[in-house]
Amino acid sequence: MQQQQDLLKSFLKYVGISWLMRGAHQPGGFYAPSPICEANVGRRYTGIPRLQPEWNSSVHEGSERTSMKVLLVNGSPHEKGSTYTALAEVANTLNKQEIKVEIFQLGVKPISGCIGCGTCAKIGKCFMRDQVNEFLEKASDADGFLFGSPVHFASASGMLTCFMDRVFYVNFANRVLDNKPAAAVVVCRRGGATAALDQINKYFAISNMPMVGSQYWNMVHGNSPEEIRKDLEGMQGLRTLGNNMAWLLKSIKAGKASGINTPEKEPRMMTNFIR
Ligand SMILES: Cc1cc2nc3c(=O)[nH]c(=O)nc-3n(C[C@H](O)[C@H](O)[C@H](O)COP(=O)(O)O)c2cc1C
Repeated sequence: MQQQQDLLKSFLKYVGISWLMRGAHQPGGFYAPSPICEANVGRRYTGIPRLQPEWNSSVHEGSERTSMKVLLVNGSPHEKGSTYTALAEVANTLNKQEIKVEIFQLGVKPISGCIGCGTCAKIGKCFMRDQVNEFLEKASDADGFLFGSPVHFASASGMLTCFMDRVFYVNFANRVLDNKPAAAVVVCRRGGATAALDQINKYFAISNMPMVGSQYWNMVHGNSPEEIRKDLEGMQGLRTLGNNMAWLLKSIKAGKASGINTPEKEPRMMTNFIR
């Protein structure tokens, strides 16, 4: 029996379905970290990112809104991997600018793509109960967004793509993201960064979201947090991105205070290229 279990584990490890190895019997349930998964992570990540432990992530103090907040989505299955290291650099910069931050981990739970049922147009959220609605609830209180992804085959990760498809389809119904600044950040070992950036930026461009830039495109190169931190130009670009995001958020807030509101929108036209 033990031999059969070991064989099955080796096979699953070989095909890379590490999350399947997380038995429901383990503390934390089905998605508890498995020894095999931890062993894999340990091989690649020999250190943890340097972060400011005192990140200020609460939006409200009592019922009164105290300051602005940016939600940073980690679209990697690695909780403390390269993408996280890049997001942490922006988060630290935002914190220095007195902007609150929260990192939203997609984790390793499978995320379905959009099935195009149109339920969100009726109920203002997705009918599937997962990270998408969890994020959308937080998003209504956030002022800006960062979507980070590892490059997977010259694209954003499959999980982030499924997640963003559904988040932004719901947004057509409830418009909680419209007119809020956003940026994409991608990390990769070697190539495909600009294609992945283009992909993520398109969600913002169709949602009336001002896109925040930097001194270079928002990409950092490395196969591990240590390598990411060695990309000094990439890391500097992320700090510049954080400062640019803070500047834009403060400018929008100041604009609102002096009567400059978001533009009025015409009733939406949809012609579907049918003549
Ligand atoms: C399925 C998969 C596909 C990948 N495709 C690419 C790629 O096209 N280009 C590249 O430079 N790196 C690629 N990589 C490497 C990752 O982008 C790189 O290891 C990154 O640092 C991982 O970030 P993370 O720790 O946040 O997951 C790929 C990795 C995986 C797992």
